[in-house]
Amino acid sequence: MTDLTGKTAIVTGGNSGIGYATAKKLSESGAKVLITGRREDALEKASNELGVSAFVADQSDLAATDRLASYARTELGPIDILFINAGVFSAAPIEQLSETQFDAIMDINFKGAFFTLQKLLPVLRDGASVINLSSINAYTGMPNTAVYGASKAALNSLTRTAASELAPRGIRVNAVNPGPVQTEIFGKSGLPPEAIQEFASALQQRIPLKRFGNAEEVASLVAFLASDEAGFITGAEINIDGGTNVNPILS
Ligand SMILES: NC(=O)c1ccc[n+]([C@@H]2O[C@H](COP(=O)([O-])OP(=O)(O)OC[C@H]3O[C@@H](n4cnc5c(N)ncnc54)[C@H](OP(=O)(O)O)[C@@H]3O)[C@@H](O)[C@H]2O)c1
Repeated sequence: MTDLTGKTAIVTGGNSGIGYATAKKLSESGAKVLITGRREDALEKASNELGVSAFVADQSDLAATDRLASYARTELGPIDILFINAGVFSAAPIEQLSETQFDAIMDINFKGAFFTLQKLLPVLRDGASVINLSSINAYTGMPNTAVYGASKAALNSLTRTAASELAPRGIRVNAVNPGPVQTEIFGKSGLPPEAIQEFASALQQRIPLKRFGNAEEVASLVAFLASDEAGFITGAEINIDGGTNVNPILS
């Protein structure tokens, strides 16, 4: 069992899915946890269920991130674990993706992630662990995910640069690239339920392990990266995808 006793963690997007499961895992492993999200009701419900604290903040809103950093400084003290997880998924062919969709994806998944890191840096303890929740879409070239995939590729690039820049403070920065994971994200994408079902069935056939991952499996990996057991891992990207990233032509 990963031991995070005495550590303080922030999980962005902690009211559902992977963020929720990770907040639960970090808390059960002994960390004091704060979760963020946009939906106040969902955040309150999650924080009550998990016994963790909560802060309403939109990751794409830099003023909200400033407020989060200031709250962390005064109410939490030095942060040991920063899990930048909040993100959105939206699928459309290149010809159809609107500027509004483009901006929403990039503003939350990349720009917001960057400024979350930047603004929380002064509050991070030397030796802290930062984990960016990316995606194998950064590499797969999957149709209809041009901007989503690019937002995650940018996040992976940021992970590598931040790992070098922050190494003098002993801060480790890693990225986790999940394959498809059963969460609410697809339902929020605006696709009709039948299209999601069709997409999920087709996708499942392409996964060597023939199933979606679950949020708890990603949470366990994040907890490990957050722990001192992962003390020599930085600048890494770890796929957790049931083998999806293996080229199916060769398997
Ligand atoms: N599920 C997958 O198959 C999969 C695969 C690879 C990568 N990922 C990545 O995993 C991360 C978590 O997604 P999930 O699958 O767990 O989906 P989810 O259940 O929809 O959770 C997303 C979380 O992010 C929060 N969020 C979204 N936009 C936000 C914003 N602007 N500011 C603050 N919080 C925001 C949501 O809360 P509010 O709605 O209250 O804002 C929610 O807590 C995302 O970065 C996603 O890209 C998911």
